[in-house]
Amino acid sequence: MRWRSVHAQSYSAEPRLTVLGTGYLGITHAACMASLGFEVLGVDTDAAKVEKLSAGVTPIYEPELAELVKAQLDSGRLRFTTSYDKAASFGDVHFICTGTPQLPGGGGADLSQVRSCVTALAPLLDRPSLIVGKSTVPVGTARELARYLAGAGSRAELAWNPEFLREGSAVRDTLAPDRIVAGVTSQRGEDVLRQVYEPLLNAGTPFFVTSLETAELAKAAANAFLATKISFINAMAEVCEAAGGNILELSEILGADPRIGGQSLRAGLGFGGGCLPKDIRGFMSRADELGVQSAVGLLGEVDRINLRRRSRTADLALELAGGELTGATVCVLGAAFKPGSDDVRESPALDVAQILHGLGAQVRVYDPVASANAAAARPELQYPSSLDEAAADATVVLLLTEWPEFTALLPDDLAGLVKQKNIVDARNVLTPTAWLAAGWNYRALGIGTGTPGRPASELERSW
Ligand SMILES: NC(=O)c1ccc[n+]([C@@H]2O[C@H](COP(=O)([O-])OP(=O)(O)OC[C@H]3O[C@@H](n4cnc5c(N)ncnc54)[C@H](O)[C@@H]3O)[C@@H](O)[C@H]2O)c1
Repeated sequence: MRWRSVHAQSYSAEPRLTVLGTGYLGITHAACMASLGFEVLGVDTDAAKVEKLSAGVTPIYEPELAELVKAQLDSGRLRFTTSYDKAASFGDVHFICTGTPQLPGGGGADLSQVRSCVTALAPLLDRPSLIVGKSTVPVGTARELARYLAGAGSRAELAWNPEFLREGSAVRDTLAPDRIVAGVTSQRGEDVLRQVYEPLLNAGTPFFVTSLETAELAKAAANAFLATKISFINAMAEVCEAAGGNILELSEILGADPRIGGQSLRAGLGFGGGCLPKDIRGFMSRADELGVQSAVGLLGEVDRINLRRRSRTADLALELAGGELTGATVCVLGAAFKPGSDDVRESPALDVAQILHGLGAQVRVYDPVASANAAAARPELQYPSSLDEAAADATVVLLLTEWPEFTALLPDDLAGLVKQKNIVDARNVLTPTAWLAAGWNYRALGIGTGTPGRPASELERSW
């Protein structure tokens, strides 16, 4: 056994793992754990998804993931099922990777998927096992689930091991994480998690053993900090727009201070996706329940700054179009919430496209991988299959997701296609001077008119 643990309390053979919920997090976790040598059973209530995965079709886009899933299926270490009976008899360690979306009409998290994993699994377990939460949950959830297990006389124990992977680099982040957090209630819980993550720990990954509550808070606080940093620089961008400053230069100057650091300090259209927006709202909601709402009150402002960037971007397009968009063709480059993903949940790009549609524009959205998801979410927009088609006859072009094929665009690539040479660079990734010199009306977030600024430096993907 390659990674047999030296700890007396852990399994004498390699534990078998189940992964409950095979979405963006679960598929990645399952395939990566199989690649470390474990036998893994992925479980999902969505039979169509399980059928696809079992046939080697990965239903999401994530770099390196499809190849990894295929290789692990071929190795025989990875399988998928809809059956909790099979999961219970197969697994020693069960990872909860189900969704925790925002409750409709409220800021809190919908915990029904997480709870139903535990209530479905617990009565079926006939030997001591460890249930490990990876989903992002409000602090207190794990303790409530641990109490449920104890009250039901279950032989399963609970641990919480929040996940920090980023879409777009999920496989790399899982196999080489910058830290692993283990919220446990016993030495055995710690030992089993050490056994599971032994190859990563041997490679030097810091391992933090803590309480269930601190583990849950580690994730909430990390997301709150990242969102705050992004909204801080976007707030400075608002000031730059009003005062005639240049946010690119300002963020470079700020980032040179090691106490501040340059990561997540790129101003633009802000954050989106299935995590940061709902997680900061969920954190505020939980803090409210705990009576400490003012401790995280700033997150409300963080959310508002983030959303304001979307309306500001739409305003810039309207301005460039001369104050009227009715009937005008608008080309939107990007639908995914970030490059490297097909995830359109809370996508800033799609929100901007929707605002422009509401202003009467014919909005054509082009994205290299996310068009199908975008079309399902916003069927009223148009989704041509090429960038050229999207740009044809456009009154305004907006760059909203920084895919490499968009950041590499040169003014002449689009000049012969569009009706009017108007571009909004909402991610600050183009070289303003080049577009202005080629006769384009160029607008960006955080750069007042007449202060075009320097070329954007290295692109960063930090959330
Ligand atoms: N996506 C990310 O980048 C990321 C990163 C870190 C943490 N997280 C957290 O991980 C959790 C999952 O996120 P996601 O993006 O993978 O969600 P997702 O919606 O893509 O996946 C959830 C999956 O769970 C399945 N499911 C629902 N109920 C189930 C049940 N009772 N049993 C088995 N399967 C069930 C759904 O069919 C779906 O396939 C969330 O709490 C999220 O905040 C996500």
